[in-house]
Amino acid sequence: MTSLTLRVNGREHALAVPASAPLLQVLRNDLGLNGPKYGCGLGECGACLVLVDGVAARSCVIPAGGVAEREITTLEGLGTRDRLHPVQQAFIEAQAAQCGYCLNGMIIATVALLARTPRPSEAQVRAALSHNLCRCGTHVEILQAVERAVELMT
Ligand code: FES
Repeated sequence: MTSLTLRVNGREHALAVPASAPLLQVLRNDLGLNGPKYGCGLGECGACLVLVDGVAARSCVIPAGGVAEREITTLEGLGTRDRLHPVQQAFIEAQAAQCGYCLNGMIIATVALLARTPRPSEAQVRAALSHNLCRCGTHVEILQAVERAVELMT
């Protein structure tokens, strides 16, 4: 076990975790943050995305100890039940969920995209989401959700 402090969603957490524990495991098992999902566990599907200093990162392949000094934001840290983040609101309005398992990654990737490119082209949106897998095939609604998020944020 190793001791570390993680800054997650604006709060500091002192933890004792196995030295090699992936960030995803610590977020879900130790902090009860179940927004990030376990999909492939190999850095391939995007279900586990979180923001690390505002950049989308695959928490299943990042050792928790490697991000101890960084600002981590999970889906839970984007908005509140009463005041959703505009990207969350847009995904609801566009009915972009079928099973919903990929949505954590889609939303986090969209938040990161719009932070660096507030008015992306469709090609930029497709590129930003191209490594997030959706097995239900709701890609059309997901693209509409990103379009709506741009409207809500500008
Ligand atoms: Fe992390 Fe698939 S669970 S990329």
